[in-house]
Amino acid sequence: MSQPKNKPHSLLYAQRKKIDEYKFNVRLSEQGTVVSVGDGIIWIKGLPSASIDEILYLEDGSRAMVFQLEEDLVGASLLIQTENLTAGTIVLHSHSSLHIPVGDELLGRVLDPLGYPLDGLEQPRCKDQSKIDILSPPIIDRDFVTRPFYTGNKILDNLIPIGKGQRELLIGDNGLGKSSLALDIVINQKDKNVRCVYVLIGQKRSSVMNTIQLLKEAHALDFTAIVVAEAASLPGLKYLAPYSGCTIAESWMKAGQDTLVVYDDLTSHASSYRELSLLMRRPPGREAYPADIFYLHARLFERSTQLSSEKGGGSMTALPIIETKEGEIATYIPTNVISITDGQIFFDEKLFSDGFLPAIDISKSVSRVGGKAQHPAIKKEAGKMKLDYLQFLELEVFTRFGAKIEASMQKRIQKGRILREVFKQDRLSPLPIELQMAWLVAYNDNLLNEISLDNIPNLLKKLEEGTQTSHLTLSSPRTEWQRAVKSWLRSIGLDVYDKTLPT
Ligand SMILES: Nc1ncnc2c1ncn2[C@@H]1O[C@H](COP(=O)(O)OP(=O)(O)OP(=O)(O)O)[C@@H](O)[C@H]1O
Ligand SMILES: [Mg+2]
Repeated sequence: MSQPKNKPHSLLYAQRKKIDEYKFNVRLSEQGTVVSVGDGIIWIKGLPSASIDEILYLEDGSRAMVFQLEEDLVGASLLIQTENLTAGTIVLHSHSSLHIPVGDELLGRVLDPLGYPLDGLEQPRCKDQSKIDILSPPIIDRDFVTRPFYTGNKILDNLIPIGKGQRELLIGDNGLGKSSLALDIVINQKDKNVRCVYVLIGQKRSSVMNTIQLLKEAHALDFTAIVVAEAASLPGLKYLAPYSGCTIAESWMKAGQDTLVVYDDLTSHASSYRELSLLMRRPPGREAYPADIFYLHARLFERSTQLSSEKGGGSMTALPIIETKEGEIATYIPTNVISITDGQIFFDEKLFSDGFLPAIDISKSVSRVGGKAQHPAIKKEAGKMKLDYLQFLELEVFTRFGAKIEASMQKRIQKGRILREVFKQDRLSPLPIELQMAWLVAYNDNLLNEISLDNIPNLLKKLEEGTQTSHLTLSSPRTEWQRAVKSWLRSIGLDVYDKTLPT
C-alpha cells in the first residue's frame, strides 16, 4: 500500500514537488539612504530607478513622494515625518504612486490628503481605492453643461448661474467672504443629492475648526467629506490636498453621482508648490512660481466635468478659491486660474465696507456656461436683470454729481436700489430656488416699486414662508405665481390691488 504522501493528489506530494523544482534566483532590490532632511523635503542617494511621484517608504516609518530626479540624488517631499528621521535613514521603493481610499464611507469624515482620519475616529473602511493623479475624462466621455447647480445665493442663481460640471472661481482679497459663500453653497446641497468635498489648504487650525463646526451645525456633514492640510502641515501634503479632494469627488462622479468640490484656497496651494520647487532647486519662473503651476491647476480643473449618460451621467462642479492682494487680478496665479475656469465671482473690498454682503462685484463676475443650464422660468425672469442692474449702477454714479434727472430715470434708480437691497444676503442662509422665483415675479411685475428699503428683509421673509407652504414649482404657470405672490405681499400690507395683473 502506498503512503499518502506519495499519492499524486496529496498535499504533501504537491509541496515536495514544489521544493524539488524550486530554483534560486538572485533578486536585486535597491536601497537608498537619506542624505539630508529639512523643510519638509529629503535628498536621497542610491535609488537610481526611482520615478517621479513614486511613494518611498523610510525605515523609521516616514513616507515621501519623489519630486525631483537628479544625476546622483533623488529629491522627495515628505508626506509623513517621524521624529527619528535623520540623514542615514534607509529608503525603499514602493514601485507605486499614491492611492487613497474613496467611497461613501468618507462622508462626514475629516481626512488628511493621504486619507488618514483627523477626526479622532477609526480609519474609514473603504472598499475602493483610487490613484490620486489620473487623467481627466476624454472629450468623448463628456456631455454639455445643461443642468442647473443651485447655490442658494440670490446673485449667483439669477445673474451668474452655475451649471453642474462647471468650474467657477471665487476670487478676491482676504476677508471678503469667499469661504463664507463657498460654505453656503455646500450647505445649500442638503437634500439635493449632491455629494460635496471641502478641501482646506494652508489654513490656521482655528479656521479649519470653524469650518468643520459650521458644516456640522448646518447638518451638511451627512453629504460632505473634508480634506485638510492646515498651515502647519508638510508642504508635500498641502500640495497634494486638492488632488485628494478631486479624487474623492471623481470616484462619486464616476459612480453616476453629482458632486461639488471646493478648493479653499489655491493661492496657498500654489505657494506650497513654489516652496517645494525652490527647495528642490527647480528654476523659478514668473513671481518665482515654477512654470508648471499652470499645468498643475489646469490638470486639476480638467477632471471636473459633466459625464455623458453612457458614462453614468455624473458630474463634478468645482469652486476653486483664489486670494488676491489689493484687488489685483492681473498677477500670475489669478490670471492663470481665471483663464482655465468657466467664469469667476469677484469679491470687492469697497462693496464689503459699504455693507453690501456678499460683496460680489456683479460687473466683474461672469459665468461662461451656466446660462445654458439655467431653468427656463428663471432665465426668462432674470435674463435682462444683470444689464439693467449694471446700468443702474452707472446712473447712480451720475446722480452723485447732483445732475438733474427726469422722472423715468428716477424710477429706474429707485428700482435699482430695491434690487441692490434684495441682493443682500446673510451668510448661512441659502435660499430655495422657488423663493428666487417669487421675488423675481414680484420685482418684474413692479409690485415692489413702492416698498421702503427697510421693509425688504420682511418682504423676503414673507415670500419664503409663502413658498414653503405652497406647492408651486418652477414649472408652474406664471399666472399662478403672480396670484400667489400678490396674496403674500398683501399679507404684509403692500398695496398691490391696483396693478393690472391677475388677482
Ligand atoms: N453674506 C455675509 N453676511 C455677513 N457677513 C459675512 C457675509 N459673508 C462674509 N461675512 C463675514 O466676512 C468675514 C470674512 O469672511 P470669510 O472668512 O468667508 O472671507 P474669506 O474671503 O474667505 O477670507 P480669507 O481670505 O481670510 O479666507 C467673516 O467674518 C464673515 O462672517
Ligand atoms: Mg477663506
